[in-house]
Amino acid sequence: AEQKGIQTDLVTLTRFILDEQKKSAPNATGELTLLLNSLQFAFKFIAHTIRRSELVNLIGLAGVTNATGDDQKKLDVIGDEIFINAMKGSGNVKLLVSEEQEDLIVFESSKGNYAVVCDPIDGSSNLDAGVSVGTIFGVYKLLPGSAGSIKDVLRSGTEMVAAGYTMYGASSHLMLTTGNGVNGFTLDTDLGEFILTYPSLKIPHTRAIYSINEGNSHYWTDGVNEYIASLKKPQANGKPYSARYIGSMVADVHRTLLYGGIFGYPADSKSKSGKLRVLYECFPMALLLEQAGGEAVNDKGERILNLEPKQVHERSGIWLGSKGEVERLLPYLTKKI
Ligand code: AHG
Ligand code: MN
Ligand code: MN
Ligand code: MN
Repeated sequence: AEQKGIQTDLVTLTRFILDEQKKSAPNATGELTLLLNSLQFAFKFIAHTIRRSELVNLIGLAGVTNATGDDQKKLDVIGDEIFINAMKGSGNVKLLVSEEQEDLIVFESSKGNYAVVCDPIDGSSNLDAGVSVGTIFGVYKLLPGSAGSIKDVLRSGTEMVAAGYTMYGASSHLMLTTGNGVNGFTLDTDLGEFILTYPSLKIPHTRAIYSINEGNSHYWTDGVNEYIASLKKPQANGKPYSARYIGSMVADVHRTLLYGGIFGYPADSKSKSGKLRVLYECFPMALLLEQAGGEAVNDKGERILNLEPKQVHERSGIWLGSKGEVERLLPYLTKKI
């Protein structure tokens, strides 16, 4: 009989991707599988580096700012270098967009057919406090006949072939979609493998949790203020919504994906285009949420994935979460105040 409690048939990320490849694209070249293996190496290396960061004095500021004006943390820079080297070493990535790089990176000698967009360390302002941070990524297949140029990445989110994030918390969680739903993996550091722990994850249709930085409420539109005020009143069940805001998008989205609820970083009179970047924050999270049965819209209630970015660090306001919660929000975004 099977020994109680000992799992002897573990589904690793590698095995899962190979199964997916056989199921979804029998004549696939296996290139995306190889790319995802290079991605998982980057996550393991970044997880290892973050875990040791306080021991090797890697916390604190690097003393420079990046293209989007953020103060770079040492780990922003290290995470970015780890990621760039892992993508260059993969052999099948031609282009890379990173929050920490002003311009598109072209791997000249690569014959790769993929473009990757990434936020190497998301939530880095929280790093020194030991709060969960993560890496967000999205993958585009080069356009037919393309040798690799900016046109391969300034595309709508609907064209992403894979997207997700790895959150570095008590353990490292990789949430991934390759277009057939969302699957979650947990890093077993002893085995050095991501193990399937959330097969075919679906977000609850509603949940009375809202996640937003209320410190910006003075700058919000009347519609957003009215919406948030409506959540603070006792609902049909006599209880108001709960407020949960961590300040790392990856951690706030991970909780939203697992528990349900709504997360928002709307544009406001202070940040006219919002704060979050379209290519490597909004698109990957929007694709994940839609694949898990949720929704992601901009300040006008339009589908995030339909946006067409005109430059690599373009920002957008974003609301994402349970379908029932986003539907409740929509009238407040569209009604003329
Ligand atoms: P990053 O650390 O990659 O620059 O991203 C930070 C983002 C995102 O993680 C989070 O949702 C948001 O900044 C928090 O912004 P506020 O501190 O203004 O709430
Ligand atoms: Mn940043
Ligand atoms: Mn970020
Ligand atoms: Mn970042």
